[in-house]
Amino acid sequence: MKKRIISPSILSANFLNLEKDIKLINKSVADLIHVDIMDGLFVPNISFGTFILKILNKYLLKPIDVHLMTINPEKYINEIIHDKYKRKNIKYLHIHYESCSSNLINLIYTIKNSGINAGIVLNPHTPLNIIEEIIDYIDFILLMSVNPGFSGQKIINNIYSKLKKARKIIDKKNKKILIGVDGGVNLSNCYKLFSLGADVLISGNAIFLSSNPIKTIFKMKNL
Ligand code: DX5
Ligand code: ZN
Repeated sequence: MKKRIISPSILSANFLNLEKDIKLINKSVADLIHVDIMDGLFVPNISFGTFILKILNKYLLKPIDVHLMTINPEKYINEIIHDKYKRKNIKYLHIHYESCSSNLINLIYTIKNSGINAGIVLNPHTPLNIIEEIIDYIDFILLMSVNPGFSGQKIINNIYSKLKKARKIIDKKNKKILIGVDGGVNLSNCYKLFSLGADVLISGNAIFLSSNPIKTIFKMKNL
């Protein structure tokens, strides 16, 4: 069976006691930790800046995947890749296709040349066919299953057919690109998402607001 990767989204952690939630992730079978960086411009919400990566890198024992929801992603990419304390455990850096008007492929190169794997994120309404043009450059395709900006939203149902199509496109090209789904993932839909071809599921509220996050992560991987 293909590996099922779970990446808990730190946005749903308890920021009054972040240390406790970091320790909990360290103890769990989570494979990654997802960090949502929002600027209040690309999305209608502000989360935290890239400084949080320094804190996470200090205490977290898992690799990080960073999701940039910002205009001018170049600025944040540079902040991250040129600071060894921020970039230390970053395995994937995802940027939104919709946030890059003219320099998407250059930014992918910048990320990859720094030794980090590059991911492209597509909003729920963004057509899948654009991935044909970038498939040769990327390591990860992240499909948003909610409108980006907030945790705790309900999954948008178009994700199921979109995911199936994405799987077909990538398998046909015989590429080793991970497909992730982000938003509204919970214990009721994770089995279906993995079965339709997701490699990585990102989940915030369903993990951190559950009574036993360690168990929830385990169940998501093993249902
Ligand atoms: C939404 C973020 C997601 C979010 C997931 O803009 O990109 O990563 O934190 O949280 P849930 O699983 O609660 O939808
Ligand atoms: Zn995210």
